Amino acid sequence: MNFTADRLLLFGATGDLAQRMLLPSLCALDADDLLHDDLRIVGTARSGLDDHEFRNFAREALEKYLPANRRGGMADFLNRLSYQPLDATTLEGYDDLAAKVGTPGQGLAIFLSTAPSLFGPTIAGLQHAGLDGATTRMCLEKPLGTDLATSRQINDAVAGAFPEDRIFRIDHYLGKETVQNLLALRFANLMFEPIWNAAHIDHVQITVAETVGLEGRVGFYDDAGALRDMVQNHMLQLLALVAMEPPGSFDATAVRDEKVKVLRALRRVGTGETVTGQYRAGAIAGKAVPGYDDELGRESGTETFVAIKAHVDNWRWKGVPFYLRTGKRLPHRVTEIVVQFRSVPHSIFASKGATMQPNRLVIGIQPEENITLSLMTKVPGLDREGIRLRQVPLNIAMLDAFVGQHRRIAYERLLLDLIEGDQTLFVRRDEVEAQWHWIDAIRASWGEEGLTPKPYTAGSWGPSAAIALAERDGVSWHE
Ligand code: BG6
Repeated sequence: MNFTADRLLLFGATGDLAQRMLLPSLCALDADDLLHDDLRIVGTARSGLDDHEFRNFAREALEKYLPANRRGGMADFLNRLSYQPLDATTLEGYDDLAAKVGTPGQGLAIFLSTAPSLFGPTIAGLQHAGLDGATTRMCLEKPLGTDLATSRQINDAVAGAFPEDRIFRIDHYLGKETVQNLLALRFANLMFEPIWNAAHIDHVQITVAETVGLEGRVGFYDDAGALRDMVQNHMLQLLALVAMEPPGSFDATAVRDEKVKVLRALRRVGTGETVTGQYRAGAIAGKAVPGYDDELGRESGTETFVAIKAHVDNWRWKGVPFYLRTGKRLPHRVTEIVVQFRSVPHSIFASKGATMQPNRLVIGIQPEENITLSLMTKVPGLDREGIRLRQVPLNIAMLDAFVGQHRRIAYERLLLDLIEGDQTLFVRRDEVEAQWHWIDAIRASWGEEGLTPKPYTAGSWGPSAAIALAERDGVSWHE
């Protein structure tokens, strides 16, 4: 049923995500008049705050995480907020929570940003208090399980109370502007799609490099590792968007139908097709940083870096490797997709001494949002000593192309879509399960092979074996 929610219930309202992303995103939407006047936001968490204290908490978060020029109307936004303390593990407090939420005029959107162990009890509590009606949407934040089995348990628990068309699973990468732009690039232009296949593409690289380390997330990260924290969700979603067939339309069913086909076509990763690493003390941007085990306070076998050579087994991508890599404490923060085209079939300039490089498309997602197509051009001159060709970039910097347009936090888009009920940028159950299926097989192979993370110095591009993984195929990582 289509409705715009006029109540938003935030579980985990005093948590890190709420402070850094959710409250700032909602306030920014409000400042741009994108929230309906009637929308009321109820926060809940264990802390015993009252409405006033929660508003103060929210104000501090906004002052810290939202740029001053996007805080217009903050007082009005804070007035939308109220708070109800809750121990989510027992049924007792849910009636009071329901009373605080009141009866929505249109509908209720619930955002669960809590530990997955609380999902089951929370759903039971919501059902108990009648907060699971036909005009309630449920939004889930990662991690949704630690493997296929646990993700199914979570999905089953949620499906017991909400049908799939009211479940919104967040992958915040889908809320990023340039990620959506990838679809515009592919499907709103004529020139790429005819050559977007194994006949013309040599390989694809997807890099998500971070400079941050553990960031105090000791308990969570050490149990997850880079494969489950970044590849299972964000990187596989990027891969799916690069590799999918053109959907019939930009709607939730069509887009997700195409993504899931790609995820299901991922070949089981073979021996020697993954490299894992863990950072040791080093320096980033000239500043000394400790090693992972120092940050953690003990030794650990968790990978903070992973590189994978993946394959999509279908007609379009036959024989085209997708090199994926992600890691913490790498030299700089960059998320990018590199599409390396093949060489022209015959060089008419070879007899004139010219050398050529194949075309390459680089889609920069962050921090720079840009699209760069490298083309071969002739170096100006009279060519008496032969023709010289050089690669030059055709470069679109999105910031320059759209001066004056807000660069929005990914959660702004996703929260608005949740409130309005558009699932296109949310992950469907079959996608999540296909992702876990592939990831579980990788983890099983690591166990069988006794693979342990190789050390790398913080500030480097990961273990040298990751470079070798690509170079064996004559490929260099784009840096
Ligand atoms: C999260 C991971 O999902 O994504 C973090 O849990 C990671 O470990 C973060 O740092 C990266 O997000 P972004 O938007 O900063 O690239």
